[in-house]
Amino acid sequence: MLNDLWYKNAIVYCLSVGTFMDSNGDGVGDFQGLVRRLPYLQGLGVTTIWLMPFQPSPGRDNGYDISDYYNVDSKYGTLGDFAEFTHACHERGMRVMVDLVINHTSDQHPWFREARSDPASKYHDWYVWADRQPPHARDGVVFPGVQKSTWTFDKQAKRWFFHRFYDFQPDLNTANPQVHAELLKIMGFWLQLGVSGFRMDAVPFVIGTKGAKVRQPVEQYDMLRSFREFLQWRTGDAIILAEANVLPDTDLDYFGDEGERLQMMFNFQVNQNTFYTLATGDTGPLKKALTATKARPATAQWGVFLRNHDELDLGRLAPEQRAAVFAAFGPDPDMQLYGRGIRRRLAPMLSGDRRRVELAYSLMLTLPGTPVFRYGDEIGMGEDLSLPERECARTPMQWSTEPHGGFTKHPNPSSRVISGGAYGFERVNVASQRRDPNSFLNWTERMIRMRREVPEISWGDFAILRASRNDVLALRYDWRNNSVVCVHNFAAEACTVKFRSGCNGPGENRLVNLLSDDHSEEGDDGRHTVVLEPYGYRWYRVGGLDYLLKRSEL
Ligand code: NOJ
Repeated sequence: MLNDLWYKNAIVYCLSVGTFMDSNGDGVGDFQGLVRRLPYLQGLGVTTIWLMPFQPSPGRDNGYDISDYYNVDSKYGTLGDFAEFTHACHERGMRVMVDLVINHTSDQHPWFREARSDPASKYHDWYVWADRQPPHARDGVVFPGVQKSTWTFDKQAKRWFFHRFYDFQPDLNTANPQVHAELLKIMGFWLQLGVSGFRMDAVPFVIGTKGAKVRQPVEQYDMLRSFREFLQWRTGDAIILAEANVLPDTDLDYFGDEGERLQMMFNFQVNQNTFYTLATGDTGPLKKALTATKARPATAQWGVFLRNHDELDLGRLAPEQRAAVFAAFGPDPDMQLYGRGIRRRLAPMLSGDRRRVELAYSLMLTLPGTPVFRYGDEIGMGEDLSLPERECARTPMQWSTEPHGGFTKHPNPSSRVISGGAYGFERVNVASQRRDPNSFLNWTERMIRMRREVPEISWGDFAILRASRNDVLALRYDWRNNSVVCVHNFAAEACTVKFRSGCNGPGENRLVNLLSDDHSEEGDDGRHTVVLEPYGYRWYRVGGLDYLLKRSEL
């Protein structure tokens, strides 16, 4: 039954254990603190928690430099705490996904230590080496301006090693069968501890060919199939959500034509064009991106997001489009990063304008796919630009007006909560927003609740409706003889928009508003005429309120 695909109608919430909640006052968030906050996440409507890396790590790339795949960093607790955490999530009907960082290890991982100190060791070939500096060593850096090269000379091994990311993250030789077997073992380990899937880091690099002679890596897609098969053999419903910022014409290679590879991928194409539309009001490129990423097998699903823990990567936009987004949301060079992105959180990018923030989230919740929230965005947290690179948008969760935002009782924690100003914990925090029925937190909770009741978006096919204005996006979803229409106005002015719903069945000339009382009747010209507020949005069900009444097949 297609209904068994839990990830289709999930609400994913991404967080870092270390910055969420500190239970023991040592200044670092931990699993016990996170467990205490599960009622909060459950109340918000979250169904799946995605944990960023929490394994032992020197912590030079926010944990994406792992030194032991089979453990929990002692800063955050123990493996026992992790098992308690997954148990507590399951008790509350929530699932857990964890980051799977297998493109590279930390240079402090015992495998790399042995590889560099003993070229005869089996671990030497677990990494990617060259005797001489490859001629293209300066190509393909992921963090331009910070990272100089993708090959570094190792004094111990007296050879060059390959690192797609920073030089302390040597790439694993994923083509080595022993490495492949170990990667499966890592997945098997965390599945055994109760996770439902993995957010797989840097997938194009994991499956790309690597080596001194490789100028243009070639993706080995069969690897994805073998991951998928292993996962489903061990745990039938476990999934992989891929981080793969690739062009639309390769999407199907990742999903597999028959859906035999990965179940989910983040939709970077739609993400970047969403920001272009938010910046300019021009919906054209977003419509193109939606159309270009439309084809996917029935079991596959996009992960839809606004901001994540990295910079807002605008690298796939045309230069003039990128310039428009920079000008609107990150004009100061210090807000920009790696020449391609913006390192800010969403609320400050939108000048804290509640109407625009609502528009952005209403859109995210109604784009084709499964919405992925980032911790703190549900209260409109900001960034601390005094912190380096991407750290600025990774500050601790703001729980209350208590010292350090209630995140920790430590007098001087190394992770500093944002304090003072429009986004400081004194003004932006969970406790205050909980008490205010009109807060953004309560708005988000209501919208998530409604989104869960509109399975057409998760499961259905979509059509872009021809709206009479280019600054309005109107989408219709159809699923099991039910349809919903979602309309978003990207302009700062109120407007009147006309469109045909495209549904002509009995009673279908009526659009029933799912969020308020103002419904829409089709006019004599067969079109709906809707007056939208500045940055206004509508969610309608065609014909009636309840999709169950019309459900014709199960
Ligand atoms: C992608 C992650 O999102 C990013 O935070 C990290 O730095 C790189 N992969 C390297 O693991």
